Amino acid sequence: MTITVQPTQPCRPAPGQHVSVSVRVNGVRHTRCYSPTLVGGASARCPDLRFTIGRHPEGTVSRHLYEHAEVGGVLELGPPAGEFVLPHPRPRRLLFIAAGSGLTPVLSMLTGLAAEGYDGSAVLVYYTRTPEHVPRRSELDALAELPNVEIVHAHTRSDAGLLRGRFDPAHLTAVAPWYADTPTYVCGPSELVDRVREVYADRGSGAMVKTEEFTLPTVALNPGDAGGEVSYAASGVVAANTGSTLLEQAEAAGLTPEHGCRMGICHSCTAVRLSGCTRDVRTGDVDSEPGRRIQVCVNAPVGDVVVEL
Ligand code: FES
Repeated sequence: MTITVQPTQPCRPAPGQHVSVSVRVNGVRHTRCYSPTLVGGASARCPDLRFTIGRHPEGTVSRHLYEHAEVGGVLELGPPAGEFVLPHPRPRRLLFIAAGSGLTPVLSMLTGLAAEGYDGSAVLVYYTRTPEHVPRRSELDALAELPNVEIVHAHTRSDAGLLRGRFDPAHLTAVAPWYADTPTYVCGPSELVDRVREVYADRGSGAMVKTEEFTLPTVALNPGDAGGEVSYAASGVVAANTGSTLLEQAEAAGLTPEHGCRMGICHSCTAVRLSGCTRDVRTGDVDSEPGRRIQVCVNAPVGDVVVEL
């Protein structure tokens, strides 16, 4: 589903950045991050924002929008955020690899490049199941008309694209044999992102890859971290530390902390750790400085912890 939102205050994300979208479901505010494209020209003072939203069976925000979004409806937007942006000066050649709704930040980069008159060359390799699963087809087709933009469709369940199957290094050899020397922006599920990283690392070009993932990279929680108690200072709740992330533990204890992406991107879950030690589940790093603001979706308590929730 694609929706266009007219912000009431200027909101101008850089191409590739995301904006948090909040809705209220049964009185509880839920937030999710989406990457918009700017509508109305790059020079508009307050451009409209266009979001493409994939329906996820367990996605509270996406399901709510599918069922309730209507013309004239109101959404709450956060400020633009994210490091998945194009460098200055623009490279002479760019490669984009996306799958599914990973298209959205990449599409915003490509439309942003077109709007600024980018005269280098850009190739997008885009993975979907079938041609019918390609969102925003008309925008992609319009980009493909530009002399310096090539859109390569790869389908996992159809022969109708130029490429067939899931991401494979042979695809890059076929359509972008120069890939290892080219800044490459990848957005999609973590299996795609991990595989692309591996392929570039094998060529000694890991630094060329910039990525944005939909899912938290799988990191084994450390069973030794469980034990002790987690105290939620603002709500007065105390519960045994099970070793999972603070967000999951807080929810299991009946709290409803604000959150968005649940994967360490949007920072909407940030809370102050008053005391104790936590482990960043993405890196394995531990930290115990009192008063530090942490993202509770990607930090797990190590023993006793007091957090301001
Ligand atoms: S919920 Fe987005 S960073 Fe934690």
